[in-house]
Amino acid sequence: MKFFVDTADLNEIKDLAATGMVDGVTTNPSLAAKQGMNFKELIAEVCKVVSGPVSAEVTALDYETMMKEADVLRKIARNITIKVPLTQDGLKVCRALSSEGTMVNVTLCFTCGQAILAAKAGATFVSPFVGRLDDLGVNGMQLIEDIRMVYDNYDSFKTQILVASVRSPEHIINAGRIGADVVTAPPKVIRQLYHHPLTDSGLKTFAEDWAKTGQSIL
Ligand code: G3P
Repeated sequence: MKFFVDTADLNEIKDLAATGMVDGVTTNPSLAAKQGMNFKELIAEVCKVVSGPVSAEVTALDYETMMKEADVLRKIARNITIKVPLTQDGLKVCRALSSEGTMVNVTLCFTCGQAILAAKAGATFVSPFVGRLDDLGVNGMQLIEDIRMVYDNYDSFKTQILVASVRSPEHIINAGRIGADVVTAPPKVIRQLYHHPLTDSGLKTFAEDWAKTGQSIL
């Protein structure tokens, strides 16, 4: 299972990349806006830190302008993945860029039907938003299960399922159970994965018992 970090915060990306756990980065216009920095410069910096796919999203809604924006963004670094919305024009852009060898992440996917379209358009990644579905009282992970089942029926569907809008470690574990290819999670959720109270209390006891021996390994 690949781990992407869902943030545009350069310090967070550097910190997590140092653990060796980060396979890629996803950003979106809302995350970029929080940084108050020139977007293209920010993305260039992120691409220096992480060698895996870095998603940078186009902001136009029409095919021609999205293509122009994608052309600017993909020149920033070789690991840029162009993020496009799941619309008719977005999928046209997906098809055009994929056929030129550019990685594409189709975002804002909320149904299995949309995921089928993304696969047919040759997307490298499709991003179903599980948290936003959960917010509506719809089971987001059920969507991941459905997409996995459909994609597995067709060898020609090479699109990777990138679970997005992740809100908890539980989402990551369930994505693993289903066999999603990638999970993108905010830094806070990735850090939550490390923790368990029994790990903390166990470590405390080990340290106390070791201290009683008066020994040192070094
Ligand atoms: O990057 C897209 C997605 O992960 C956004 O998540 O929490 O804003 O629904 P959220």
